[in-house]
Amino acid sequence: MKLLFKNIKALLQVRETNIPYVAGNDMKVLPQIENAYLSVEDGRIKGYGSMDNCPIGEFDQIIDVTGKMILPTWCDSHTHIVYAGNREGEFVDRINGLSYEEIANRGGGILNSATKLQETSEEELYEQATKRVASVMRMGTGALEIKSGYGLTLEAELKMLRVIKRIRENYPIPVKSTFLGAHAIPATYKKDKQGYLTLLADEIMPQIASEKLASFVDIFCEEGYFSVDDTHFILNAGKKYGLVPKIHVNQFNAIGGVQAGIEHNALSVDHLEVMRPEDIDALKGTNTMPVALPGCSYFLSIPYTPARKMLDAGLPLALATDYNPGSCPSGNMNFVVATACIKMNMTPEEAINAATINGAYAMDLSDEVGSITVGKSANFIVTSPIPSYAEIPYSFGENKIDVVYVNGLPIH
Ligand code: NIG
Ligand code: FE
Repeated sequence: MKLLFKNIKALLQVRETNIPYVAGNDMKVLPQIENAYLSVEDGRIKGYGSMDNCPIGEFDQIIDVTGKMILPTWCDSHTHIVYAGNREGEFVDRINGLSYEEIANRGGGILNSATKLQETSEEELYEQATKRVASVMRMGTGALEIKSGYGLTLEAELKMLRVIKRIRENYPIPVKSTFLGAHAIPATYKKDKQGYLTLLADEIMPQIASEKLASFVDIFCEEGYFSVDDTHFILNAGKKYGLVPKIHVNQFNAIGGVQAGIEHNALSVDHLEVMRPEDIDALKGTNTMPVALPGCSYFLSIPYTPARKMLDAGLPLALATDYNPGSCPSGNMNFVVATACIKMNMTPEEAINAATINGAYAMDLSDEVGSITVGKSANFIVTSPIPSYAEIPYSFGENKIDVVYVNGLPIH
């Protein structure tokens, strides 16, 4: 199948030579070709350039996109999209004055979702999750990371991970799986945290390895959840099974989780709403991608990740949704990009870099997606007619997507 898109108002995020990610001042630049063409063959990007050099060969389909722009699909490197039911009751409790922490301390929060998930069949869980996956794809997401962590027992964690595996097998976008057994301490282990950590390391991880159910390992390193020592324990255990760390750190308190992640060469450290100067310094010169989740800050009314300070210090940054029932019940990357510009003072160029190539890096997919580069998957967004790409974050809450293509095929 050969496709030609012609009269593209601007082809965005064009990278002739593939790069793993962009950092610091380089994030201010979004390479583009105005009045461009893009050709696709067998689901991959075949060529692109100025309309002056537009090929006239044989194509199965020629699509005229006059007035519209094309950019790579969003790479959402942090989601908990597999979950059972919702937590809108807790949402109303928060409106009425309870904090996220108070709700968790009453047995709500992650433990509430775990109870629901344990009671839900694998089939039903798959049905619920795939509705969300289809929805985020229509909103422009073309690569996805999904975590476990609402099971908190051997059976329920494996059930979640098998659902993620089925999603990977049945959906056309790349899907990466993360083992987040250390998301909360289940009630049955309340007085025996080490017992729970041992269960994760000695019983669940070997099973994950034998069924190839995850690429990454995660832990919620936070006061009241898991300590820095627990983080070392879990990341060391993960290493034995080839699980690369991507961890939840510095959401409410900075307790040294960033440094622990770096020590274990984490692929990413995520959340970072609370960043001390030493946390920013620690990330300099490492291969660890910091990931901000502005939808979570918005929904919980907590601070936003200090993107300006981090970018101005030369760091890279990725943006992701954190799609989950408790702290961000939305998987809309367009909203994330807009919120990064509006609330975190990121420029549209920085936000688009953060939500495409840097998101791809944060799930080890930057050879496959995240830029318009020959040979990469033909996963891209065709916008509606827009005057400039700043319109995408500017018109927050509006849909500026005309069609999403995945492997060269339109998603409906
Ligand atoms: O990334 N912070 C930890 N975990 C999730 C939210 C969990 C929940 O409330 O269900 C997060 O925000
Ligand atoms: Fe999360």
